Amino acid sequence: GRIWTEVRALTEELKDQKVLVRGRAQTVRAVSKKMAFLVLREKGSTVQCVLLVAPDLVSLGMVKFANGLSRESYVDVEGTVSVPSSPIKGASQQVEIQVRKLYCISKAVPTLPINIEDAARSEVEIDKALQAGEQLVRVNQDTRLNFRVLDLRTPCNQAIFRVQCQVESIFRQFLLSEGFVGIHTPKLIAGSSEGGSAVFRLEYKGQPACLAQSPQLHKQMAICGDFGRVFEVGPVFRAEDSFTHKHLCEFTGLDVEMEIKEHYSEVMDIVDRLFVALFDSLNKRCQKDLEAIGKQYPFQHLKYLRETLRLTFQEGVELLKEDGIEIDPLGDLNTESEKKLGKLVLEKYGTEFYILHRYPLAVRPFYNMPCSDDQTYSNSFDVFMRGEEIISGAQRIHEPDLLTTRAIACGIDVKMISTYVDSFRYGAPPHGGFGVGLERVVMLFCGLNNIRKTTLFPRDPIRIAP
Ligand code: 4AD
Repeated sequence: GRIWTEVRALTEELKDQKVLVRGRAQTVRAVSKKMAFLVLREKGSTVQCVLLVAPDLVSLGMVKFANGLSRESYVDVEGTVSVPSSPIKGASQQVEIQVRKLYCISKAVPTLPINIEDAARSEVEIDKALQAGEQLVRVNQDTRLNFRVLDLRTPCNQAIFRVQCQVESIFRQFLLSEGFVGIHTPKLIAGSSEGGSAVFRLEYKGQPACLAQSPQLHKQMAICGDFGRVFEVGPVFRAEDSFTHKHLCEFTGLDVEMEIKEHYSEVMDIVDRLFVALFDSLNKRCQKDLEAIGKQYPFQHLKYLRETLRLTFQEGVELLKEDGIEIDPLGDLNTESEKKLGKLVLEKYGTEFYILHRYPLAVRPFYNMPCSDDQTYSNSFDVFMRGEEIISGAQRIHEPDLLTTRAIACGIDVKMISTYVDSFRYGAPPHGGFGVGLERVVMLFCGLNNIRKTTLFPRDPIRIAP
């Protein structure tokens, strides 16, 4: 077959070479009957293609054909790479293609609901353009999500999902290198896995069932099945009522569960090393993508320490108190106090990523292990990034009678989880683990303000399409 070149690979090194590229006709600008410029975009990268009437280049008819192309049509271009004398504005690549052949593979409708160039501009650029009297439409989030296949074509969105893919990949690589086994737990389960009401109910061949709110119960059962250390990347379903910037009804859970040898801090050690490795790798591997994201939504790189800061919940409460904010020392943090604590921690310790541990038992799920020295607290933790929760984790109760007592105390129907509780009757290792929300990690690493931006096709309390 013929050799195709990717637009992003078009550099000066290819000067005078013949190339064949495929992409979208982002814009066509006619200069005269004999000349036109076509900006071709592929996976967020753009190149300027010159159509010039000449015996060895293109015909008059071809220039006319190019001028008639609707935006976003899918085209093939054959031509020669040239290096212009002055920098090219409006394209990411700094070389041009002198076109010899142009084919339209698939035509787009003449009027699009979203103009990709407008959708790709930053707020600052939009304000400037509007002041300069330019005609453009600010593309709002709902429009973006309604026509997501168009919205996804912006360089920023292309970059966001490449970063997301890297997060997942680094997560897997790190855990595999630490002896974890990747598993898949069922998503159709009999009872709720986290307690509470935020569960999608359905009928399973005449029996009541629900969509798993987490792999929690089955990842622990995998530990009872002697895998020692397990992880899972999979869908998590929450029938959320709250319409916020950080809650989805379906998200991707990165889950970890492991045997504990001496102390549950072994679980926090994994969080620490996993995330420092993750942030380091993202900064190294995704430089270009992070730049593309920052171009549309400017952000500061995440500040994190070589060894992750660990504060107890009590220390957190005291930090807030010093700043004049009183919260219930045996209650939970709300979104506001989490944000505030994030700011205080950044000022005092210089990090936007830290672990808060030893939570009051009363605010944790039933399966969290009470502290051995004081039962009002638990061997549990949350992890925060830029003042928002991305992880919750804990040592689990592996003693069936205590587990039953705690489930009853939390108002859980023990019959619904009897096979889970029974798993611990055949000898069970002490164990713990944690769950991470993939979309939240990407959102907060890139300083984005809404989880919908880091979800390909988000599901929230009012959206189930597209
Ligand atoms: O805090 P959660 O509910 O904890 C669990 O599911 C436990 N089973 C984890 C464990 O192993 N102990 O959820 C874990 C993470 C949260 O920290 C958050 O990042 C993300 O999942 N998350 C959500 N992300 C998007 N939309 C939602 N509605 C989310 N709910 C939780």
